[in-house]
Amino acid sequence: MRKQSQSFTEQLLNTLSVKEKIGQLLQIAPFFFIKDLKVEVAGHVRNLELDEEKIFYAGSVLGIGSPQEMIQVQKKYLENSRHKIPLLFMADVIHGYKTIFPVPIALASSFNPKMAEMTARVSALEASSGGIHVTFSPMVDLTRDPRWGRVVEGFGEDPYLISEMGKAMVKGYLGEGLNTNTSLASCVKHFAGYGASLAGRDYSSVDVSLLSLFSEYLPPYKAALDAGARLIMTSFNTIDGVPSTVNSFLLKRILRDRWMSNAITISDYDSLKQIISHGVAKDSEEVAFKGITNGLDIEMSSSTYSNHLEELIKTSRVESILLDEAVLRVLNLKKDLGLFENPYKGVDIIENNNVLTKVNLYKSLQVAHESMVLLENDGVLPLRNNTKIALIGPYASSRSIIGPWSWHGSRDIHQNLEEAFKKNLVFCKNEEEYSKYTDSDLSEIAKADVIILAIGEPDWHSGEARSKTDLSIPNNQDKLLKIGEKLNKPTVVLLFNGRPLLLDSLKSCNALLECWFLGSESSNAIKDILFGTENPSGKLPISFPRSVGQIPLYYNHLNTGRPYGGEQDTNRFVSKYIDSPNTPLYPFGYGLSYCIFEYSNLRLDNPVLQLNEKLTVSVDIHNNSKHSGFEVVQLYIRDYVARISRPLKELKNVQKVFFHADETKTVKFKVTGEDLTYMTKSGSEVFDYGTFAIMVGGSSADVLSKDFELVKGNK
Ligand code: NOJ
Repeated sequence: MRKQSQSFTEQLLNTLSVKEKIGQLLQIAPFFFIKDLKVEVAGHVRNLELDEEKIFYAGSVLGIGSPQEMIQVQKKYLENSRHKIPLLFMADVIHGYKTIFPVPIALASSFNPKMAEMTARVSALEASSGGIHVTFSPMVDLTRDPRWGRVVEGFGEDPYLISEMGKAMVKGYLGEGLNTNTSLASCVKHFAGYGASLAGRDYSSVDVSLLSLFSEYLPPYKAALDAGARLIMTSFNTIDGVPSTVNSFLLKRILRDRWMSNAITISDYDSLKQIISHGVAKDSEEVAFKGITNGLDIEMSSSTYSNHLEELIKTSRVESILLDEAVLRVLNLKKDLGLFENPYKGVDIIENNNVLTKVNLYKSLQVAHESMVLLENDGVLPLRNNTKIALIGPYASSRSIIGPWSWHGSRDIHQNLEEAFKKNLVFCKNEEEYSKYTDSDLSEIAKADVIILAIGEPDWHSGEARSKTDLSIPNNQDKLLKIGEKLNKPTVVLLFNGRPLLLDSLKSCNALLECWFLGSESSNAIKDILFGTENPSGKLPISFPRSVGQIPLYYNHLNTGRPYGGEQDTNRFVSKYIDSPNTPLYPFGYGLSYCIFEYSNLRLDNPVLQLNEKLTVSVDIHNNSKHSGFEVVQLYIRDYVARISRPLKELKNVQKVFFHADETKTVKFKVTGEDLTYMTKSGSEVFDYGTFAIMVGGSSADVLSKDFELVKGNK
């Protein structure tokens, strides 16, 4: 009876030897399968204590360079393996495969999940033709520390925004379903709390309260899983002293018991073996034991399972059902992807059919338009069509503008700024040092109407293992502003960076455009914004501090018992600095447009609400300008009195609304009971009756506010 009801993968599992099962949990690089193990990669084989037999039991591959390589690896593997279970190919497709999109922090600045979904859809179309089945994306690690290099790879500081962007990415990767040829399975990462690495130093410990974990850090991972992410990658950090990779609180109690998720858990690169360095295992055998018993399925780039699990099971120290459950999850993903029917599904060696197509590049351009944030503008922008431009700074003709973390993308094939601005250029110099601008340079620059300063961090300053303590503009590039001052020319600054930097020294410019790294169409997108064929609509997904000393700085913080009342407040004993304002230089949600949006008449259809009722919030917004454009209308909530102290403001909803010149629109939001609940430190979702504030505005620091009461009763 039981046998009959077994699924295909359960039956398959039963035909596997213990060694073969264990192999399914091993993930190694592609070269192991196609290089000469005794000569070319002997060192790697030795280090991992692997042999040919174990290698050809492996279940998945980390990173693949091309469709040709994928076909070669899969073919060789299938020829060598008894069970003929196809390999699963996983890779980092972070912000595009060959067509590169804005880096995730830029994408988040669009505040537009539809853009995120489109980005992921194109990435999946392209990467699936390259033979990739799983992408290690999205990264939904909430971060409040711009010193951390991986800010570039995430969606900023707000749990709601991160969740919305994460869900949209997962959906986009998935497309019409995993079994289609153009779908990618999504591996959400890094579970959990990686963005809270102490002092912003990568791989450092994390010390986060249960309250913060449940209410801020965990929801985005859950949102991505609910949206269909099939894998979840553990983080490098410890939580409460236990490395995430072997943390049963995370991997079992939260993931399996509470969230009822059957997602495959996968370590980060070598992070299982690294629990020895963390000091929670003495040797590889204990590593394997801790991994499998605490809920880790796939081991990436270390081999403790392959070398020890068999013995651990044989001696009954590990129950074989743990192995079976983990392997079944892997086999099920392979089945759902359709790999048993076609191990080469979707692969196309004539890559040009699918990648870098005009349509894909156009989509990248659209996303790039929405991902820039205009931080300052005294009216110099938009430029007139015939404006004469002097383009200077280290990004003037650099091709390193697509952004870090795009392994399959090429920086050399896309236009740089110099090429994009060709028609208007009277001068161009790719130089960051002020002293290297000669008198003859200055006399050429003097012929321009406007100076465009293309400056920022080199792209390699952000990403994994790129933490920094100094967030000022590198190498005194801000000194280049002097050129404009000297020549009495307006200066527009284009800023390229992967994290918030300290921008005080740039405030004297005439316009400041946060470009982040915008992908393949960076230069064209910037040109469109500068000349006003497109109107900037991005908002900051993370606060920009005034100084490193303010970090961590985020908008959704709690009140204190001694809140600072602002400049009029003469009380000394309040929560403030003696040498700096508390506020950021640019707050979360901030960003200018060529439109001028005026908010008025915030109203609620009912000042008293019961939990099962809906509240309609309306606000009038007038575009007091001759430009048309989008505004990101943000709705925040504050729960004034609850059983625990609640944030001063929490983002609950966003609408990106288009306005014609001089148009007034009434924008409406629905607020439901769900928006009023919160998590406690025991992980339960609760609410409290009483007064709440609804705030609506174009930035977290500029809102209209109205109160309402949540009262008992059930209509
Ligand atoms: C290490 C990174 O932390 C992770 O994000 C990435 O997916 C893996 N390496 C695989 O490349």
